[in-house]
Amino acid sequence: MAVLVTGGAGYIGSHTSIELLEEGYDVVIVDNLCNSDKIVLERIKELSGKTPKFYEIDITDKEKMEVVFKENEIDSIIHFAALKAVGESVSMPMEYYSNNIGSTLVLFELMKKYNVKNFVFSSSATVYGDPETLPIVEDSSLSVTNPYGRTKLIVEDMLRDICFADKSLNVAILRYFNPIGAHKSGRIGEDPNGIPNNIMPYITKVAVGQLPYLNVFGDDYDTADGTGIRDYIHVVDLANGHVKALEKLSENPGLVTYNLGTGKGYSVLQLVNAFSKASGKEIQYKITERRPGDIAACYADPTKAEKELGWKAKYGIDEMCEDSWRWQSQNPNGYKK
Ligand code: NAD
Ligand code: WQD
Repeated sequence: MAVLVTGGAGYIGSHTSIELLEEGYDVVIVDNLCNSDKIVLERIKELSGKTPKFYEIDITDKEKMEVVFKENEIDSIIHFAALKAVGESVSMPMEYYSNNIGSTLVLFELMKKYNVKNFVFSSSATVYGDPETLPIVEDSSLSVTNPYGRTKLIVEDMLRDICFADKSLNVAILRYFNPIGAHKSGRIGEDPNGIPNNIMPYITKVAVGQLPYLNVFGDDYDTADGTGIRDYIHVVDLANGHVKALEKLSENPGLVTYNLGTGKGYSVLQLVNAFSKASGKEIQYKITERRPGDIAACYADPTKAEKELGWKAKYGIDEMCEDSWRWQSQNPNGYKK
């Protein structure tokens, strides 16, 4: 029996594939490589000592996806594949709706046809919008402010409807907070195309001299130092959360939803300082305007995942920064030669 990992060549999917392989799962990866590189597959093999089956397929192509279900005995699906850039989603909403929702519909149809009962979905803290209370618990109110976030909320709603109608399904909705860090080996990590939108890859590119300075988006938020606060979580901790979620699904829980965060918030300037300490590199920065759509603070209450999954983040901010730096300094151009 195999786990189908969609988007398994991507940042979180590649780290999760390694943890799954190390736990003894058979892994089948489907990725169209629209935001990743084939070399990741070789690195997964190098690090795990195992070769996951790989299909270079667009998940929205149902005919091609059906071959994957015919050729493999799929027991569970972890669905990472999605477009994820918030700003791009505002200018290209159709692409986000057809990719992120279209791919999920294809998977639901094939799950039904091939009797696959277990599904793990990559959701995001973005579905909490601007939270009314902190830390954020799973039953907080949900709202979104951009098409990317809306695709996550729509898929969550679809999952709630589908699970209500079919009690034999087991679904884990995992809401990630802000993943950073990389595998300890420095062989896989985050490799965004072009100028990064997210803060950590931006900082690491400043540290290797590819960008001159960090723009700190606003220092007038209602936070201790005025900069935005987020719950950064090590990508390997996040990957382990998926292994725990699969174990949970084997108990037939129906639909379950968990925050995957550390529960601790760090400001932009605290993150910059932690990174400087970990890397020995001074990070130049300039305070600029707030970025439209940003919120002041966002951090998880992760106690539900701890109680029900037996999962807790192990790595702190220093290790997150050390591992992001190891990846970037050893691979200054990411996966590109
Ligand atoms: P990523 O872009 O590195 O990985 C996504 C992978 O999916 C890529 O390899 C891409 O090529 C593939 N893909 C996209 N559309 C596809 C399609 N139609 N068919 C086949 N493959 C396709 O992103 P990531 O950071 O690893 O994110 C994984 C998931 O987690 C996404 O669903 C994302 O929305 C979600 N998420 C990410 C973050 C974050 O900050 N990184 C936070 C919360 C949630
Ligand atoms: C973090 C903090 C910025 C860049 C986004 C998505 C969210 C989720 C994770 C997918 C904020 C500040 C950033 C920079 C800065 N993705 N910042 N200078 O916005 O919390 O979340 O990624 O689901 O949906 O919205 O993450 O890394 O972009 O920003 O000062 O160049 O860093 O203002 O306070 P964010 P981020």
